[in-house]
Amino acid sequence: MGFEVKLWIFSIIIMVASSRLEDYSAQGFAEVPCYFIFGDSLADSGNNNLLQTTAKANYKPYGIDFHFGPTGRFCNGRTVVDIIAELLGFCEYIPPYASSTIKDVIFGINYASGGAGIRNETSQQLGEVIPFDKQLLNHRKTMLSLAKILRSEAVAKWYIGKCLYTVGFGTNDYIQNYFVPDYYNTSKQYTLTQFTQLLIQQYKRQIQRLYSYGARKIGIFSLGSLGCIPYAIINYGNGSYSCVEMVEQASLEFNKLLIPLVDQLNLDYPDASFTYIDYYAFGASGAQFGFTNFTSCCTVASNGLCIPNSIPCKNRTAYVFWDAIHPSEALNKYIGLKSYEAIKTLLEAPHHHQIATA
Ligand SMILES: *[C@@H]1O[C@H](CO)[C@@H](O)[C@H](O)[C@H]1NC(C)=O
Ligand SMILES: *[C@@H]1O[C@H](CO)[C@@H](O)[C@H](O)[C@H]1NC(C)=O
Ligand SMILES: *[C@@H]1O[C@H](CO)[C@@H](O)[C@H](O)[C@H]1NC(C)=O
Ligand SMILES: *[C@@H]1O[C@H](CO)[C@@H](O)[C@H](O)[C@H]1NC(C)=O
Ligand SMILES: *[C@@H]1O[C@H](CO)[C@@H](O)[C@H](O)[C@H]1NC(C)=O
Repeated sequence: MGFEVKLWIFSIIIMVASSRLEDYSAQGFAEVPCYFIFGDSLADSGNNNLLQTTAKANYKPYGIDFHFGPTGRFCNGRTVVDIIAELLGFCEYIPPYASSTIKDVIFGINYASGGAGIRNETSQQLGEVIPFDKQLLNHRKTMLSLAKILRSEAVAKWYIGKCLYTVGFGTNDYIQNYFVPDYYNTSKQYTLTQFTQLLIQQYKRQIQRLYSYGARKIGIFSLGSLGCIPYAIINYGNGSYSCVEMVEQASLEFNKLLIPLVDQLNLDYPDASFTYIDYYAFGASGAQFGFTNFTSCCTVASNGLCIPNSIPCKNRTAYVFWDAIHPSEALNKYIGLKSYEAIKTLLEAPHHHQIATA
């Protein structure tokens, strides 16, 4: 990298991080200087495109309502993290790690990967995937490059501490692991409650690592209503359209342990703030407004994703679900707005923890 680029990064970081938030909001900057995203297909913006996996969405009709067409987003339009980035005032969406360059560290990087789980083995039956542990390693690499440019790990950490982080995992540890007994033994080894406890323990260690790298403002998404996604109803239902209790129980137990985890992190790390983003409640309340159809909008294959080049439903704002797993942009808009409101409390009261509910 040329000297000029390094100098440019250095100047931007000093300028952005040393001004007070209000000052640069007034100048048209975003409410936070940078936003880093960790997660699964609900947040992926193209990291799986070049991986050997069936968990990818860089083909039509994905992106049918998105400005840039199919990008690898698992949606007809914007994802929840796209909406959050827009509401925070970013001029561009946070770029995927796979196609990022070191200068993207200034405004943030999206490490999310479709199929990703808390556990490394999750989704491996689908092919390659970048689990949370690997996403953390990727972030560590980014951090080391930044420290090299700034010639100081301390300065790099100080900058990173001003960024927003969101983290969302767990869905795949159930629907692409625990509830797939043909590939995984987890449901034979553990009860749902034991498995959930293991997940939360591992999640805690992973979030602690994120903190140790310098993250100080961290929003953590709860699980959505997994028993009610068309994929669960098709695969585990009894032929009616009702939600699948066994799968729904996983979401409820996970979220029930996630809330006290977030509380504990706030107590353990008073120089950081963590917020529980109630994706479950936001999804449920959002689905009550104006939606008439709870089946998937596109025609799906057995993996729950849209069949390539299939013709999707016409009125996509009437659908809660885009494919059999992922919400439509219409629902994402609502969840994104509510999530942004929860995140704002994190940014406004940096050392005060709040649980936002719908
Ligand atoms: C998961 O894989 C990464 C390498 O990608 C490794 O560093 C990490 O220790 C693994 N985690 C567990 C819990 O085995
Ligand atoms: C699952 O259990 C079977 C029989 O106990 C064993 O042969 C297999 O290796 C296990 N698979 C995994 C992925 O642990
Ligand atoms: C299917 O399951 C749901 C909830 O799990 C239950 O309310 C419904 O009565 C069941 N329907 C049939 C036909 O068994
Ligand atoms: C929902 O969509 C499906 C498939 O597109 C269609 O068969 C069904 O009639 C729709 N239901 C309602 C209530 O619009
Ligand atoms: C599409 O669905 C929305 C929400 O149900 C409804 O308000 C709107 O009138 C529908 N548009 C068309 C063209 O049918």
